[in-house]
Amino acid sequence: MATRRSLPAATPSRRARYAAALTIAVAAAGLSLAMARAQPPDGARVAGDDRQPVVLPEPMRTHTIANMRDHLLALQQISEALSKGEFDAASRVAETRLGMTSLQAHGAAHVAAFLPAPMQDIGTRMHRAASRFAVEAQGAGASNDLRPALGALSAVIGQCVACHAAYRYP
Ligand code: HEC
Repeated sequence: MATRRSLPAATPSRRARYAAALTIAVAAAGLSLAMARAQPPDGARVAGDDRQPVVLPEPMRTHTIANMRDHLLALQQISEALSKGEFDAASRVAETRLGMTSLQAHGAAHVAAFLPAPMQDIGTRMHRAASRFAVEAQGAGASNDLRPALGALSAVIGQCVACHAAYRYP
């Protein structure tokens, strides 16, 4: 009888413990869901973002992203050089930092192995376009007509835009 009497007393406290454990479990599940939403796992698609995730191992990702910032700096330096009529400088920056000559410095072959083929193609088109701009910038020095060089620069930027519209590095 003593056990029967102590049992009803124990039941509510056990229920309370179950309830507490359940609350913690639900909270933990909710938290991990919130974290998963804030930080999607590598390679996962994100709602509202159509870009394809391309996973690069570290430190390759950090190196590639830093290289991107140098691409933007190079475009700024090219625009500035063009505005001052410094066509040789504009040509040199384009060829060495964005053009075919830049590929070795960027370790491009190493990174390319991790990129989908269409993404590699955009990269190749960007490097070729930059080398074409380098030639047009030299030409602008001779002809004093900026338009072909500006058109070639726009073709370079068009490849930056094309790649950014399609891919991201998670
Ligand atoms: C072949 C693809 C490709 C090309 C070409 C390309 N980018 Fe990027 N770039 C990327 C990807 C992918 C990211 C990462 C975007 C993300 O994860 O949101 C990026 C990021 C960047 C960033 C952000 C860097 C940071 O610190 O987060 C800059 C700036 C940038 N690119 C500039 C450029 C410029 C300028 C050009 C053209 C001269 C260019 N990129 C060409 C793929 C490319």
